[in-house]
Amino acid sequence: MMDLIIRNAQLVDGSGKPAKEGDLGIKDDRIAGMGDLSQESGSKELNAGGKVLSPGFIDSHTHDDRAVLHDPLMSCKISQGVTTVITGNCGVSLAPLKYEQRPPPPLDLVCEDPKLFFSEFSGYLKTLDQEPPSLNVAAQVGHSTLRLGTMDRLDREATPDEIKTMRSRLESSLLDGAIGFSTGLFYPPAGSSSTEEVIEIAKSLKQHHGIHSTHMRDEGDRIMDSLDETLKIGTQAQTPVIISHHKCAGIQNFGRSTETLKKIEEMRQKHPIGIDVYPYVAGSTMLSSGRAMNAQKILVTWSRPHPEAAGKELDEVAMEMDLDRESAIEKLSPAGGIFFMMDEKDVRRILSYPHSIIGSDGLPHDDHPHPRLWGTFPRVLGHYVREIGLFSLEEGINKMTHKTALAFGLKDRGILRPGAYADLVLFDPETILDRATFDNPKEPASGIEWVMVNGRMVWNHQTHSGQRPGKVLRLQELDPPLMN
Ligand code: ZN
Ligand code: CU
Repeated sequence: MMDLIIRNAQLVDGSGKPAKEGDLGIKDDRIAGMGDLSQESGSKELNAGGKVLSPGFIDSHTHDDRAVLHDPLMSCKISQGVTTVITGNCGVSLAPLKYEQRPPPPLDLVCEDPKLFFSEFSGYLKTLDQEPPSLNVAAQVGHSTLRLGTMDRLDREATPDEIKTMRSRLESSLLDGAIGFSTGLFYPPAGSSSTEEVIEIAKSLKQHHGIHSTHMRDEGDRIMDSLDETLKIGTQAQTPVIISHHKCAGIQNFGRSTETLKKIEEMRQKHPIGIDVYPYVAGSTMLSSGRAMNAQKILVTWSRPHPEAAGKELDEVAMEMDLDRESAIEKLSPAGGIFFMMDEKDVRRILSYPHSIIGSDGLPHDDHPHPRLWGTFPRVLGHYVREIGLFSLEEGINKMTHKTALAFGLKDRGILRPGAYADLVLFDPETILDRATFDNPKEPASGIEWVMVNGRMVWNHQTHSGQRPGKVLRLQELDPPLMN
């Protein structure tokens, strides 16, 4: 006897194989049977009405470190069918850090209050165990977080002693259950660190089979140099690497994804390397003149001194203030922005690259966030799969489930098969679509019918059940990363 049988579904198992009609049974938190279950019965039965049942989506790139504690229902992600988030990206994590002042950007995108950081990674994960969110969490350690807690100033390379300290903090975080180490070499807190500093710290990953992910030093004019640096870090530290939110930023670099993807393909012959991508031509991060240089249009997402600017175009705000762009940015900071700086053709090329996975890079604390926070996954399946026909539904789902689970070693997740965890989403392939826009960024997607996490119903027809069955996925329970 199963706890639940979902009958009459189109099963898309996440592996990329074609959909099959059938039923799926659940016992406790796992899938107990699949296919023709007409001989079986469940204490509860649901009819899927021929809709698509797939593994819950895995958001490979998030900044949900604090959101999962402070907004544990996580409707922004659950409403899209996301059942697991990877946190701690771009060099920023909520642990391990002891700090007294307002943290510098971009750490403030995740948390502005120093009291809310955790001095030990174990403390962060234990708090999540005790107050679980609605979805599963796998957390990385951020390089900038380590630097802030170790160094007296960030505008220089770390000394050998500081490197040793950071390495041992990473090491103990991995033992506590962190799944990897991220860098944000593009950002001021880490921009002065040398390649060698990163290699030395990243060396602790190998023994534990942790992963390294990187927001590279340059995603614009010097992107090829950054790819070289990334390969060097990966090969010398002997760790698999994920290149975060791959893009070619700035109008002068439009079209260069042909070059970068060719190079990434060559790099992959030598070393395990993956890439994640979000389905938009605009990025979002702290408001800075560096990023602004490369953008055609900028929207303000939040501003501490001028909250009324959120949602407005930067150039309009600047005009109202009678300032140029640069001085307006200064006046608004600390602040965040959305930067239109990519070519749609590059976005499509990277999305359809066979080895890319989907990550939202959403910023959950912004007043007027980039719509990717609420829209990424339904946008891929609705806009790029159904409307544009960029790739098949099965391929799209593979990029947000099994391929991602393999890359991060998330054992028994991202796949439909007996014995795997019952993280599931049921959606209508004819109506699934993002509704969050740059004007109205907090709209839940359409077409998502049910979302289950570890066998429990969390989202049912636009309503959150209030359940919080999410688990912390610790490194010790994972498989080694596999970038195939
Ligand atoms: Zn980033
Ligand atoms: Cu990011």
